Amino acid sequence: MKTLFLLTFAAFTPVFAGFGTWAPPGPYDVRAPCPMLNTLANHGFLPHDGQDITREQTEDALFDALHIDKMLGSSLFDFAMTTNPIANSTTFSLNDLGNHNVLEHDGSLSRSDAYFGNALTFNQTVFDETKSYWTDEIITIEMASNARLARIKTSNATNPTYSMSELGYGFTKGESAAYVVIFGDKISATVPRAWVEWLFEHEQLPQHLGWKRPTELFRDGDLDKYMDAMQNTTVSDTPGCPAGKQQQRKARRTPSHFGW
Ligand code: HEM
Ligand SMILES: *[C@@H]1O[C@H](CO)[C@@H](O)[C@H](O)[C@H]1NC(C)=O
Ligand SMILES: *[C@@H]1O[C@H](CO)[C@@H](O)[C@H](O)[C@H]1NC(C)=O
Ligand SMILES: *[C@@H]1O[C@H](CO)[C@@H](O)[C@H](O)[C@H]1NC(C)=O
Ligand SMILES: *[C@@H]1O[C@H](CO)[C@@H](O)[C@H](O)[C@H]1NC(C)=O
Repeated sequence: MKTLFLLTFAAFTPVFAGFGTWAPPGPYDVRAPCPMLNTLANHGFLPHDGQDITREQTEDALFDALHIDKMLGSSLFDFAMTTNPIANSTTFSLNDLGNHNVLEHDGSLSRSDAYFGNALTFNQTVFDETKSYWTDEIITIEMASNARLARIKTSNATNPTYSMSELGYGFTKGESAAYVVIFGDKISATVPRAWVEWLFEHEQLPQHLGWKRPTELFRDGDLDKYMDAMQNTTVSDTPGCPAGKQQQRKARRTPSHFGW
């Protein structure tokens, strides 16, 4: 009987965390302004309560779910730690990431600016504007760039407290590149629109739409050229963006979402 129990337990273990399971956050669970980390918590790759996440848990979750190199996972954890206000802590919680103007910034793709409301949770009005720039079934880097640019322009035009730090600006490029080349295909630099919409709107990996864990390892540096492409389409004529070659070089050296 005991053996049977253990065998059954072993056989069903994957159901408790990973691709085979998903549950929305409960009333005591915390979540982030990041649709991907929320998704990983909903699947149990990260602690479902979203709290006290360690370096090892971050590295393992990003590797197991998305095939992200653990060195890169570790540097992302370092960024996350900058948002925890408690000195000398060794963990972060997903809601720490919402602390305004540490990593969280105005002009997001699916969150309201902190000035207008809750910058932590999904906002359909904001996301509808973003979606209107994904003009085909397959999202390209250019469409992602247009959507990013539009959101930055809208925020600057409508939010009297609009601000964008160099770090935040680097993050916006990394985030927009990430949903295309980490979540989508890093070789063709495209991603099915239906997958991305599902990810943002449901915070669930769209396996039922054909999404699978990428077969290739995603390394630090793999995002650079796509972030350059984001930069290239936004250098001129963009209120709210650093403009011109000198600014471009300067922005290039600031840390991004993905740690370069
Ligand atoms: C430990 C790893 C990560 C950390 C610390 C992190 C942190 C953040 C933070 C703080 C934001 C909010 C920025 C804002 O809109 O104000 C954000 C947004 C975002 N993140 Fe992550 N993230 C991580 C991993 C990932 C991964 C692997 C992806 C892959 C697709 C991703 C995709 C995004 C996207 C697309 C947004 C933009 C959401 C929006 O603008 O509405 N993140 N992330
Ligand atoms: C944090 O660590 C530093 C260096 O070890 C120490 O000086 C400081 O008192 C610690 N702060 C807290 C709040 O524990
Ligand atoms: C969603 O965002 C829009 C635009 O920023 C804002 O007017 C609205 O109040 C937000 N909704 C919520 C529920 O925060
Ligand atoms: C971006 O612009 C730089 C300099 O103008 C150029 O060297 C680089 O090839 C461009 N990258 C992309 C992806 O267009
Ligand atoms: C917002 O746009 C104006 C131009 O309309 C620009 O001068 C300003 O620098 C932008 N704000 C920020 C924080 O970039």
